[in-house]
Amino acid sequence: MRLAVIGHPIAHSLSPVLHEQWLRASGLFGRYEALDVTPDEIEDLFQQMRDGVWDGFNVTIPYKEAVIPYLDTLDVAAEAAGAVNTVYKRDGKLIGTNTDGAGLVAALDRWTDWTGHVLVIGAGGAARGIISALPTRDVTVTNRTMERAERLADAFGIEAQALTDVEIARYDVIIQTTSVGMDGVDSPRSLKGLRQNTVVCDIIYRPLVTPFLKEAAKADAKIVNGTAMFVGQGALAFEYWTGVRPDQLVGMKLIERLLE
Ligand code: ATR
Repeated sequence: MRLAVIGHPIAHSLSPVLHEQWLRASGLFGRYEALDVTPDEIEDLFQQMRDGVWDGFNVTIPYKEAVIPYLDTLDVAAEAAGAVNTVYKRDGKLIGTNTDGAGLVAALDRWTDWTGHVLVIGAGGAARGIISALPTRDVTVTNRTMERAERLADAFGIEAQALTDVEIARYDVIIQTTSVGMDGVDSPRSLKGLRQNTVVCDIIYRPLVTPFLKEAAKADAKIVNGTAMFVGQGALAFEYWTGVRPDQLVGMKLIERLLE
């Protein structure tokens, strides 16, 4: 197995340690590299994959859309998300998928009971991927810029609310998808009114516990940190490449230890 994540910058990616651990645990011989690439190197990498040099790629910022022209097919998850985070090969064809949303769903299924009304905070690419993975759920999207929330709501037939108008107590599950909190200081909004045992998930994993999650923990919410989605999306990608379902718990422990 020869696998890699492509992006820029990529030096701090945790994907190589995660996947190499899973390769070892699965008894598979192989490597997973982090490739810092420029846009004009992408085409050649995909040609190398067609030639059998690579078995699979993860794709990260800023190339999740830029890789699309070099693939043969996008599956429904990539189409719905409008972005690709995983490329695998079937019958000689390069297929782009997106495991971010389904990975978060798999992780939440694994770690918590998360029934009920879902609030998604944010309306960027990450929110789109997550909302597209929740077709059967009651979802409300909220965003600082209401127009973007409305666009997502129209696309997926869900409700949009202005960030300032959201009544936190209405929700059983809250998923924070914005970049706010990476500085370890800010939150996209307060969690005033949060009910005990609400599931509160942040997709940020640096820091491991964002100010948003700290506030949730104080209100006795069930908190799920960003390593859940990171490991969940990685696990599904690994399964596409190898056919082996890797152990999410082992992955979470490894990543949390590296981030603590
Ligand atoms: P990604 O693809 O990672 O989701 P993005 O498309 O740039 O990134 O979206 C970033 C999200 O973070 C958006 O929901 C953005 O809100 P706006 O649409 O109003 O810009 C949100 N965001 C970024 N900075 C924010 C801030 N200071 N307060 C509230 N939301 C913020």
